[in-house]
Amino acid sequence: MARTTHRIAVIGGDGIGPEVTAEALKVVRAAGVAIETTDFDLGGARYLRDGEILSDETLEQLRAFDAILLGAVGIPQVAPGVIERGLLLKLRFALDLYINQRPFIGTAPGGATPHDFVVIRENTEGPYVGEGGVLRKGTPHEVATQGSVNTRMGTERACRYAFELAMTRGKHVTLVHKTNVLTFAGDLWQRAFDAVAAEYPTVATAYNHVDAACIYFVQDPHRYDVIVTDNLFGDILTDLGGAVSGGIGIASSANLNPARTGPSMFEPVHGSAPDIVGTATANPTAAILSAALMLDFLGEGAAADRIREACAQPVTGSTSEIGSQIASRVAG
Ligand code: IPM
Ligand code: MN
Repeated sequence: MARTTHRIAVIGGDGIGPEVTAEALKVVRAAGVAIETTDFDLGGARYLRDGEILSDETLEQLRAFDAILLGAVGIPQVAPGVIERGLLLKLRFALDLYINQRPFIGTAPGGATPHDFVVIRENTEGPYVGEGGVLRKGTPHEVATQGSVNTRMGTERACRYAFELAMTRGKHVTLVHKTNVLTFAGDLWQRAFDAVAAEYPTVATAYNHVDAACIYFVQDPHRYDVIVTDNLFGDILTDLGGAVSGGIGIASSANLNPARTGPSMFEPVHGSAPDIVGTATANPTAAILSAALMLDFLGEGAAADRIREACAQPVTGSTSEIGSQIASRVAG
């Protein structure tokens, strides 16, 4: 079979983003996967330089790639939300990356045995859509609203993805929400979940309120196999998932368009960490494991497995030393 060369758009981004992304590419190449990369200079630093966040033209260029590998975006000199909404969320929405898949394998602090679960975070709806506005800004009568948008289509496709994934794993899916307070959105989620569950009679189901799920993440993560949840709950829960699974330095994520109408995007859960930029202390493992998720999606599952095995062994040293250690393990 002819070997496919995968065309990867690389957005190193800001802060430690370019440092960890370089190590991820080093490891992918060491694993023998044929890639051709094109760098896109995007993020807070680019914005400060010439005002571009993500032009329509750049977005169209990105659509032509097989996948996007992203480091991290955001710098302290740019107001919160400008780059996040204008670049990261714009990419998730425009490319219809409706699944944010975040695997967690590790042992919780004080835990005895490793857990292995995956959070499926709905990635295009909820409070992230930017619904709402502000009135009488800066006055004592200021009003701000920020709505949560949930569609039957969006909730159902997230649930279906979760059940399909569970069929390949432990055949168990937990819906996490707050149906006792967010009764409109919660009810829609619960009915979509139940309808999809009926199509998968061999998959067991559970429901947790998100506050209770926070306790279980710490005290009983073994109860989980696949979790499906909304965009904001999923954002918060996956930082906690990282904290109970070896730290945010190894937490990986895949923004997926399972319909494959365009490229999917792979990025660590962590941010740009401007406080440690240039110190070579960032752990590139989260970026490397995100690249492994990219390889899974590109049909290079064997190389992805080898990278995960290499990352499971202890690593020490600077950012590039860790990258080189893992690269030499996958090269064999
Ligand atoms: C994440 C990040 C983003 C999010 C931010 C940077 C917009 O926290 O990927 O988890 O909230 O989704
Ligand atoms: Mn987050």
